[in-house]
Amino acid sequence: MSKRQVVHVTSEEALRQTTIIHKLAERQAGKHLKYCISTFGCQMNSRDSEKIEGMLEQIGYTKTEIEKEADFILYNTCCVRENAELKIYGRLGALKGIKRKNPNLIIALCGCMMQQDIVLDTLKKKYNFVDIIFGTYNIYKLPELLQTRLETNKSVIDIWDSYQDIVEDLPNARKYDHKACVNIMYGCNNFCTYCIVPYVRGRERSREMSDILHEIQGLVADGVKEVMLLGQNVNSYGKNLETPVSFAELLKAIGDIEGLKRIRFMTSHPKDLSDELIEVMASCEKVCKSIHLPVQAGSSRLLAKMNRHYTKESYLEVVRKLRQAMPDIEITTDLIVGFPGETEEDFLDTLDLVEKVGYASAFTFIYSKRTGTPAATMEEQVPEEVTKERFNRLLKVTNQTGLKVMERQVGKTLEVFFEEVSKQDETVLSGRTESGLLVNTKASKTLLGEFAQVKIIGTKTHYLIGELV
Ligand code: SAH
Ligand code: SF4
Ligand code: F3S
Repeated sequence: MSKRQVVHVTSEEALRQTTIIHKLAERQAGKHLKYCISTFGCQMNSRDSEKIEGMLEQIGYTKTEIEKEADFILYNTCCVRENAELKIYGRLGALKGIKRKNPNLIIALCGCMMQQDIVLDTLKKKYNFVDIIFGTYNIYKLPELLQTRLETNKSVIDIWDSYQDIVEDLPNARKYDHKACVNIMYGCNNFCTYCIVPYVRGRERSREMSDILHEIQGLVADGVKEVMLLGQNVNSYGKNLETPVSFAELLKAIGDIEGLKRIRFMTSHPKDLSDELIEVMASCEKVCKSIHLPVQAGSSRLLAKMNRHYTKESYLEVVRKLRQAMPDIEITTDLIVGFPGETEEDFLDTLDLVEKVGYASAFTFIYSKRTGTPAATMEEQVPEEVTKERFNRLLKVTNQTGLKVMERQVGKTLEVFFEEVSKQDETVLSGRTESGLLVNTKASKTLLGEFAQVKIIGTKTHYLIGELV
């Protein structure tokens, strides 16, 4: 049994930061300052960046996509794989020159990468022109950190090694008008042996159901029709709350919010996917019939070494139950190739599982050694050539299963939620089916944020081509 933890929601802290925001706004008034944020990594970071943007905009900054124009540049970083980190160091190197030309420029770093001591040491040694550094537990403190930086003219570093409180009711900016991401929990307790997330995002803690419902009601009043509920393992939502609730119960309650049309969630850990949840998914009309169910590997032997707590067989059983309850459900996944000790036989198990499940799409990753995780010191690290070759073979198979799913849609008429104007073609709207498939349709911009019946007339590898009915 895990111990219950009390999560304090401090509105005093939010109030304190709001007071600082007002002071900064006065101080910077009339300066027409601009900010530029680059966000790396997963939707947790994207959501955090929205909160940061909200704070910066209240301070009086306006957004720009062009770094050279900005007075405040922030990188919200990811460290899940080594190449994510290398990208940040590369970008920082380029910033050095910009900073030299514009000493008033403020450069800030935050996010998962900052939670590692080894990264902080490197930054202090090689990138000491960075003005503000904070981590994943204290993003709400940005106004205060900025104030300190402006008043002292010295670099400010504020990293906590664990979370303290969940701070609700902060200012907030949203990327889309009609859909929104909502955190339902933070952190992770699973310690998959390859993964650094639990070390940089801390232990699992859930938000109170009432806070979540309140936030979504506000979003809906604001025109939001679809929410994506976020957590590293949403299936264990609510277990540690003072009055425990299940994720299924939360979904049901969200389903009752009037005006909300679609509910999505990620990520589901296969080990915790309950029958209760499948039942609620199937019976609640608003819950989309689509699920991201990361499997990582198909070999039960390897899954045990990864500390995933399920086998190939039990995973396939969960998939069978999902399909039985929801025949039209589409499933997506994450896969890792080259985990320490992976043999050709293990890998064939992965290919076999991918074919058996028939994923609509998959994120495929080459295993990346993360210092501090158990897998980093495991023997039998797989040579790069072997991993690369397997990676390419895997990609072929996931592309095939994806294409099959897409081809099966041709001729069907499906409900599509138009989410944005296509980047390639102004006359085309991009949207998603309930099952999560991307559809591009020629349609007027007035349909943005609306639902429409669309006939699927063709398919490309990563999206369907639709026609308004
Ligand atoms: N909590 C989610 C995923 C978080 S990280 C889950 O459990 O599914 C997103 C994905 O990154 C993981 O699913 C995994 O496939 C991949 N990943 C994590 N650590 C990795 C590593 N060290 N090397 C390669 N891929 C990794
Ligand atoms: Fe990482 Fe595993 Fe937690 Fe996902 S469940 S964040 S892969 S430790
Ligand atoms: Fe996400 Fe990367 Fe952090 S995947 S939780 S931003 S390490």
